[in-house]
Amino acid sequence: MAGQAKEPLSIFGAGWVGLVTGSCFAELGHEVVVRDVVPEKIERLRAGELPFFEPGLAELVERNAERLTFTLDAAEAAHASELLFVCVDTPPTYSGDADLSRVWTVIDELPQLDRRGILVMKSTVPVGTGEKVRAALEGRGLSHIGYVSNPEFLAEGHAVDDFMRPDRVVVGAFAEADGDHVSALYSEMDAPTVRADVASAEMIKLAANAFLATRISFINEIANVCEVTGADVEKVAEGVGLDHRLGPHFLRAGVGFGGSCFPKDTNALKQLASNSGYHFQLLSAVIEVNELQKRRVINKLQKYLGRLREKRIALLGLAFKANTDDMREAPSVVLASRLLAEGADVRAYDPVARPGELLRGVSVCESVLEAVRGADAAVIVTDWDEFRSLASSEVRDAMRRPLIIDGRNLLDPEAARAAGFDYEGIGRASSPLAALPETDEPSSVDVPSEAMGQTGSAENAEHFSRE
Ligand SMILES: NC(=O)c1ccc[n+]([C@@H]2O[C@H](COP(=O)([O-])OP(=O)(O)OC[C@H]3O[C@@H](n4cnc5c(N)ncnc54)[C@H](O)[C@@H]3O)[C@@H](O)[C@H]2O)c1
Repeated sequence: MAGQAKEPLSIFGAGWVGLVTGSCFAELGHEVVVRDVVPEKIERLRAGELPFFEPGLAELVERNAERLTFTLDAAEAAHASELLFVCVDTPPTYSGDADLSRVWTVIDELPQLDRRGILVMKSTVPVGTGEKVRAALEGRGLSHIGYVSNPEFLAEGHAVDDFMRPDRVVVGAFAEADGDHVSALYSEMDAPTVRADVASAEMIKLAANAFLATRISFINEIANVCEVTGADVEKVAEGVGLDHRLGPHFLRAGVGFGGSCFPKDTNALKQLASNSGYHFQLLSAVIEVNELQKRRVINKLQKYLGRLREKRIALLGLAFKANTDDMREAPSVVLASRLLAEGADVRAYDPVARPGELLRGVSVCESVLEAVRGADAAVIVTDWDEFRSLASSEVRDAMRRPLIIDGRNLLDPEAARAAGFDYEGIGRASSPLAALPETDEPSSVDVPSEAMGQTGSAENAEHFSRE
C-alpha cells in the first residue's frame, strides 16, 4: 500500500490510538514522528517491540520502520509537521468527567511555532473541548495553530483494519481550510466523510459509544427477562438482528461491557449532560444495568454451589474482550474481587492479558487445564476462541465439580450438558439444579437485590432461589 512520500505527521501518544494512527499513516506513505512521555515505551518501540498486543500492528510497525520515528521530545514532534495529532489518554476522574490533563500538557509543551499548524484531536473529549483548546492556544500566543476534531472509532482487536477501512471519517473544524487539510489525509480510504462543526464532531463520538453501550445493556436486560420467562436470548437476538432497521451488531448478551472506552465515555457523556443541567436518564440506566450484569455471575455460581467460601472458581479470560490484552474496566476485575470478597479461591487464565498487581489474591495460571484443576466451577469471562472447546472430557475430569458458567454464550448448551457438565449461560435455560450438599447453607448475600435488577422483583428472586 505504501506510495510516494507524503506530508509528514506528528502523533502525541503511543497508545492504541496513537500507534495505530501513526503506523497506518506510515503505511499510506507518510513520515510519522510519534511522541510519548513514558521512556520505556519509547525504548521498546525503538527496539521494534510493541508495548501492548494488537493483531497486525507489530507487522505494520516493522514494515514501516523507516518512516516511523519515536521520541520523548515534544518539540521534535511539534517541529516535524504541520498536523499534530493528539492521541493521549482521557481517563475518567473521580466525578466521572473526562480527565483532560494530558491534553493540556500537550498544549503546554508545544514550543513557540512560527508557522501555521493544526492540532488534530483524536482523543475522546467532552463537547466544548475544542473551544477551550482554542482559548488555551490563544493564551499561549499560538492562535495561528488551528484545531480540528477528528474522533477515532477503532475497536481494539481489529484496530488496524478499522483504521484502514473506517465506516466514516468525522472532521469538525473551526476553519474550513483546516477541515479540508485533515479530510484530504483520508482521501484514499473508501469511506464517507462527515464534515461538522467542532462541537457536533465531539458529540458524534460520545453518542456513537453511548448507543453501542445501550445496545449491549438492552440485550443483557432482554437476556435477564429470557431467564425468568424461558426464552433463549441467542434466538431472540438472531430474530431481532435480522430486522434491517436494527441489524445484528452489539446484540450479544454477556457479562457486560468493559474496556477503556464504553464505561468511560458513557459516564463522561452522562456527566457532561448533568453538568449542563440535564439528567440523561436512559444513559444512567445503561450504566447501572451494566454494573448489575457483571455481578449476576456471582448469583449463578451461588445457585449451584451455595456459599462460595473456599470454593475454587476458575475465571477464563481476563481481557475485556478477545484479541486484546487490555484489562481496563474488564468485567473480570469486578468478578474476581467479588469472588475474593465471598472467600472463594480464584484461579484465572487468559491467553494474552497479564494482570500484574491488578488481581492481587488471584492465582494466575498458564493454561485452561491448570486453571480448572480441582475447580468447583469454570466461568467464561472473555470470548476467546480457545474457550469454545472447553466442554471436553479432559476439563470435566480435571474439575472437582463440572460446572460451566458461560458469561459469553460461547458454548452449545446441549453439547456441554451431553459432555457431562452443568451449564448455565446468559439468557438461556439453566441446567436442572442438583440438590446442594447439606452443609452448603446459602450465603447471606445469596440473592442481593442489586443483582436482580433495579426492582428486585419477585420473579427475579424466584429465579435465583435454589428450590
Ligand atoms: N483504545 C481504544 O479502543 C480507543 C478507540 C477510540 C478512541 N479512543 C480514545 O483515544 C484516546 C487514547 O486512547 P488509547 O487507548 O490510545 O490510550 P492509551 O492509554 O493506550 O495511550 C495514551 C498514550 O498517551 C501517552 N501520553 C500521555 N501524556 C502524553 C503527552 N503529554 N504527550 C505524549 N503522549 C502522552 C501515554 O503515555 C500513553 O502511552 C482516549 O481519549 C480514548 O478514549 C480509544
